Amino acid sequence: MNARPLKVAVLGCGVVGTEVVRRLHESRSALAARVGVPVEIAGVAVRDRKRPRDIGIAQELLTDDPLELVKRDDVDLVVELLGGIEPAHSLLVASMEHGKSVVSANKTLIAEHGAQLHETAAQHGVSLLYEAAVAAAIPLLGPLRDSLGGDDVTRVVGIVNGTTNYILDRMTETGGEFDAALREAVERGYAEADPTADVEGTDAVAKTVILASLAFHTRLSPTDVYREGITGVTAQDVADARSRGCVVKLLTVLERPAGQGEVLARVHPTMVPLTHPLAQVKGADNAVVVEAAGAGELLFRGAGAGGVPTASSVVGDVVTAARRRLLGRPVGAMAPTVAGQVRPMRELRSRYHLGVRVTDAAAALDDIATVLRVNDVRVDSLHRNRSVGPNTWVLATEAVLESDLCAAVEALSAVPSVAEVPRFIRMLDPVGQEALAR
Ligand code: HSE
Repeated sequence: MNARPLKVAVLGCGVVGTEVVRRLHESRSALAARVGVPVEIAGVAVRDRKRPRDIGIAQELLTDDPLELVKRDDVDLVVELLGGIEPAHSLLVASMEHGKSVVSANKTLIAEHGAQLHETAAQHGVSLLYEAAVAAAIPLLGPLRDSLGGDDVTRVVGIVNGTTNYILDRMTETGGEFDAALREAVERGYAEADPTADVEGTDAVAKTVILASLAFHTRLSPTDVYREGITGVTAQDVADARSRGCVVKLLTVLERPAGQGEVLARVHPTMVPLTHPLAQVKGADNAVVVEAAGAGELLFRGAGAGGVPTASSVVGDVVTAARRRLLGRPVGAMAPTVAGQVRPMRELRSRYHLGVRVTDAAAALDDIATVLRVNDVRVDSLHRNRSVGPNTWVLATEAVLESDLCAAVEALSAVPSVAEVPRFIRMLDPVGQEALAR
């Protein structure tokens, strides 16, 4: 092996960056054998060069000038682990304009600017890879882009946020409220000090946009994705789910039935039957079910966060980018160029769990039945939830239109015998019949 080594610049040396540097350094012989030439660290951009670090590389490789680093002639690949939009965006563009292939774990950046970054990559003949941006360690984007590139994906359903899965899992195990489970998640390091993006669902939305672009070859924007976080999920919702043989999960659901152009993309708490594989996903793990016309149902499951698992995906992309660079075949042209047609949420057809607290259970029953009938909300089951007192009706609908369900909830809120705005949670159909309105 006498070819010139490939040189990698790493931007950011936090939890993931540290593990990426460690892996590139400690596995250098194995990586060299797999790539065909040595893969060496050209430099690591950090905020504070003087901070002591245990990453086993020479102090001289640390720099606080990332722009100078990515422009250097000896740098072939840039790994961006800064997170956020700026300066990550400018640095990735500058890297590609200077002919470097880039690897990023930055879901926010790819969701917001993925199409433009792909165009820049294609223009400059370099690779742009970001396997770690969704579901960290799980090889998911590569299979969607490559292995399923000849198939028609019709549906993607998954848990792509580990923090919220941990919180909902704890609520299920302890019967406690959201606030207590969140506190525990922060204390145990499963949630950031500021967990807003996780619990409000915006982290999952960014990942959903990326999944949509690869699954359906269309470009969505984060605002195209319906979003509902988990801050409103109560211990009662979790108990109601249990009594239905379900657990509450924050799901990403993407659907584009065969032969249709429109994509319905959504992130919201969902009652998932215990028989469904996603119900078994515990703690901070992620899992995604992909349904494709030819391949059928595929399940991807594993660690969705953490330094070492995320570094596995990042270094995998480094190997891919390095091999492609040596072959002179970058993948910059894999951009989703078509703007996605978005199906509005009101056209979702789903089953719903509905809880209606009333002032007088017997008197309210007729009112509830009338409102639901008038709004075309067909009821599958209805009973009084005596565990929370005499005055709560809980019901499950058949598959009905979201617009009809919302109209019924609004009408019920105005009924004098109904004590408060009824609560509803969408239910995942155990046999995958939840579908768009045809
Ligand atoms: N905050 C994210 C999560 C980290 O909880 O899934 C991985 O993207």
